[in-house]
Amino acid sequence: MSLALIMPDRNGAGLARRLHALDSQLDVQIWPAMTRPQDVRMAVCWQSPAAALASLPSLELVQSLGAGVDGLVESIPAGVTLCRTVSPSLKSDMRDYVLLAILAEQRQWTAMAAAQRARQWQPQRYRRGGTVGIMGLGELGQAVAHTLAGLGFTVKGWSRQHKTLTTVECFAGSEQLPAFLAGLDYLVCLLPLTADTHGLMNHTFFQQLTQPTYLIQVGRGQQLVESDLLYALEQGQLRGACLDVFASEPLPTDSTLWQQPGITITPHCASITSGKELAAAIYKNYQALLAGQAPAYPVTLTQGY
Ligand code: GLV
Repeated sequence: MSLALIMPDRNGAGLARRLHALDSQLDVQIWPAMTRPQDVRMAVCWQSPAAALASLPSLELVQSLGAGVDGLVESIPAGVTLCRTVSPSLKSDMRDYVLLAILAEQRQWTAMAAAQRARQWQPQRYRRGGTVGIMGLGELGQAVAHTLAGLGFTVKGWSRQHKTLTTVECFAGSEQLPAFLAGLDYLVCLLPLTADTHGLMNHTFFQQLTQPTYLIQVGRGQQLVESDLLYALEQGQLRGACLDVFASEPLPTDSTLWQQPGITITPHCASITSGKELAAAIYKNYQALLAGQAPAYPVTLTQGY
């Protein structure tokens, strides 16, 4: 059985080395230079060309390089299972990023850095605690929620299907969205990109915020209507935003978001699986496939996540 790495824009050779460190006998082929496509039962990819997967007649399992699978769901051949990679560092890095975004805003970190550059001694007033709403209560959302609750924040959560979590007041579905959005100091988006979440954060959505809220967008860019975000900032439904993902990445140099006061931009780096953990997660699923067992973190293709 062969494992295919289909990683046009990433380092397939580097990942192959890590996999061989775990098992020197592992048969790894790197796309497109594959000599035995008929032997491939498992493929690893991110935004894979559908044609690459369709050219593997014995394919049974596809593993996404990350937690997101929006670049893959459409290209999975019938009968093939798709799974995601959720590693310990992916969760802890996301938790740290969200906490950093909240604390930087509370402590006016950017303003203090600007004051330093201007040699000005300018103590800032600061916020404490508050209510954080987390959209998306999967592996990452729950890790963020529990950490923030443990630090004394009031945490609300919203998901497609109702969840019960000890430290979080849970809401579900569009009918409970207004109740979820009420009274938030911070709103974190950790939703997967699906037909339902595409364009979710639009004018109507921002209108339902009941007080100036700070948005932390770590889901997918297409979930946010950028012009409506700018309007919500202007109108005061939002008091600022920290954005890590964008509809078009890299964010075009002429985007108005770059220079917008109140917006912090990071280049889709909130949380990245470490190479070592990625190799371990792939190898575990490879072994599960060999043993006829289900992979970790399977995706429900009809749901899109
Ligand atoms: C990153 O965006 C991921 O989906 O892992």
